[in-house]
Amino acid sequence: MKTEYLPCDEAGIARGAELLRRGELVAIPTETVYGLAADASNEDAVRRIFTVKGRPQDNPLIVHISDLRMWEPLVRGIPADALRLAEAFWPGPLTIILKKSGAVPLATTAGLDSVAVRMPSHEGARALIAACGLPLAAPSANLSGLPSPTTAEHCRRDLDGKVPLVLDGGECRYGIESTVVSLLGEPTVLRPGAVTAEQLAEALGKPVAVSHAATEPLASGETVASPGMKYRHYAPRAKVVLIESDRAAYLRLLEEAPAGTWGMVFEGDEVQAGRPTLVYGREHDAESQMHSLFSALRRLDDEGAERVYVRCPDHDGEALGVYNRLLRAAGFEVKHI
Ligand code: TXA
Ligand code: MG
Repeated sequence: MKTEYLPCDEAGIARGAELLRRGELVAIPTETVYGLAADASNEDAVRRIFTVKGRPQDNPLIVHISDLRMWEPLVRGIPADALRLAEAFWPGPLTIILKKSGAVPLATTAGLDSVAVRMPSHEGARALIAACGLPLAAPSANLSGLPSPTTAEHCRRDLDGKVPLVLDGGECRYGIESTVVSLLGEPTVLRPGAVTAEQLAEALGKPVAVSHAATEPLASGETVASPGMKYRHYAPRAKVVLIESDRAAYLRLLEEAPAGTWGMVFEGDEVQAGRPTLVYGREHDAESQMHSLFSALRRLDDEGAERVYVRCPDHDGEALGVYNRLLRAAGFEVKHI
């Protein structure tokens, strides 16, 4: 298949909508990461998403909507808490899990009785959903296991020849995937992102838990609320090790590291590193870190890095999302110094 690359403008959106209505797959920009979209109600199209990505069959997809009226038919009622969160954070990087209706095929939710929905703030993404008039199922547009794509070029690397169209909407504003919150029981964050548990708690006026799977490996045999948490993720081919230390100790460790080791560091560290480095944002500035995290992980493979020592981000607030992705890229290997 020859892949078309179009800007996410009026003509691109019209072409995308036409393909999506026909049951084709289209890679689309959002404010978090690029998504691989299909009509969420078309089982055959949704199955092709899993095939193209090489995605495990038990990992459910997020359904994207362009306005609140699209939400109601997808779920069995919208509780007050859900409405409050939608009002506070949509359109934006928050995904809300509720009981699903019969309108959502089990192929989309990987057999689950619930459905994850979000309304992206990327104007092009919303215009596309509105233009086809369909809720769109879209996981991140990477091959399963690789870092999520934050540019159309990343999508090309993973999907060229496998999908008919990639829409280029520029670099993603946030750079990590949406916060996923489950409202099936007490509100619980299953995947941390740019919207924090503290912000959710404030909007709801009650505590919001964070799943321990955000920062800890699963015990063997443990079932998990969010199947996506099971898999090694966001990982380049290089071996990633997270280094929990101060700057000086980190730089010493990097200096003494075996050949083939790269540093993934904060702005300014590169000046003193005795090794090749990639910068991913500024220290204590989670937004700058999430913005370049996945491109840095992808660049490491282009550079042929064998091993990467990553300076550890903070663990709280917005930084929790960055920390979570790095823990998973590192297979939870953290060196404390
Ligand atoms: O920012 C994002 O959310 C991006 C863009 C494209 O919107 N999408 C994305 O999708 O990250 P994906 O498929 O890479 O991640 C979806 C996550 C997975 O961890 C999955 O297990 C979880 O959401 N999920 C989806 N539906 C669920 C459900 N019904 N119950 C529990 N977890 C669910
Ligand atoms: Mg993904």
